Amino acid sequence: MRSIALTNQKGGVGKTTSVANLGACLALLERKVLMIDVDPQANLSIHYGVDIYGDRKSLYDLMIGEAKVEEILCRTNFENLDLIPSNINLAGAEIEMVGVVGRETILKEALDHIMERYDYVLVDCPPSLGLLTLNALTTVREVVIPVQTEFFALQGMSKLIDTIRLVRRRLNPDLQVTGIVACMYDGRTRLAQEVRANIEQYFPDKLYKSMIRKNIKLAESPSHGKPISSYDRNSLGCKDYMALAREVIAQEAVLRRAAMPAAPSDSAPQEGKQTSVAGGNG
Ligand SMILES: Nc1ncnc2c1ncn2[C@@H]1O[C@H](COP(=O)(O)OP(=O)(O)O)[C@@H](O)[C@H]1O
Ligand SMILES: [Mg+2]
Repeated sequence: MRSIALTNQKGGVGKTTSVANLGACLALLERKVLMIDVDPQANLSIHYGVDIYGDRKSLYDLMIGEAKVEEILCRTNFENLDLIPSNINLAGAEIEMVGVVGRETILKEALDHIMERYDYVLVDCPPSLGLLTLNALTTVREVVIPVQTEFFALQGMSKLIDTIRLVRRRLNPDLQVTGIVACMYDGRTRLAQEVRANIEQYFPDKLYKSMIRKNIKLAESPSHGKPISSYDRNSLGCKDYMALAREVIAQEAVLRRAAMPAAPSDSAPQEGKQTSVAGGNG
């Protein structure tokens, strides 16, 4: 099982679009996928046509202990693809939980028993580094950072990396950045190419080769309540997310090898050794 939070405290960089479509593409490639909407804006839930205004219980109810996972879990219309929806009530959770002991691990504890049923758990984070994002980072083992290849792409990145380090030290020693995905990429512009080069310098070996190009079909599909693979299978957007899904799947073998205990012939003590987070940023 791989659990991945798509995190960037900047809004509008492609987090939700990536969870929605990477999730759908992984499911098409026969991985069993759970998507979790941890954003009170509930864009991911809307993307899959969930009615977020009705009485339906959501992640909020789970986090305050008023619902069981089984009550809020949605089967989407797509095989291998489930969703835990959010709604605006979740916005209150950050404040309501301020005084709660262990508030950073509420999500992890609520989901622990179902995560193992899936090959991939993808978490869509809100555009902040508040308590909801901390809960997401405590629940997963991997972080993928979507970035928009524009001038301010790397602004705020050191704050994000600091937060990830802090979570790793205090709450989740397994957490590591396993990828950066360039979204809304327009390779015709020199700026996009420069920013891409910059990201590669700042995060050596982390940038996925599959770039997600700007594609209007990706922006249209949420209003149809469908992922791109169902809305327009022949679009560039679908091709890009399929390529990304294959690249993510190809990481499985690498991560498995990294997780294996060191061979006995290794002389150096390996216990407790961790794969470093996003190398090259001090
Ligand atoms: N590759 C893309 N091409 C065109 N539009 C995109 C692309 N990726 C995202 N968008 C659009 O950009 C906006 C912001 O994307 P979104 O995934 O919601 O960002 P975030 O979740 O980081 O706030 C949305 O309207 C989305 O439809
Ligand atoms: Mg979003």
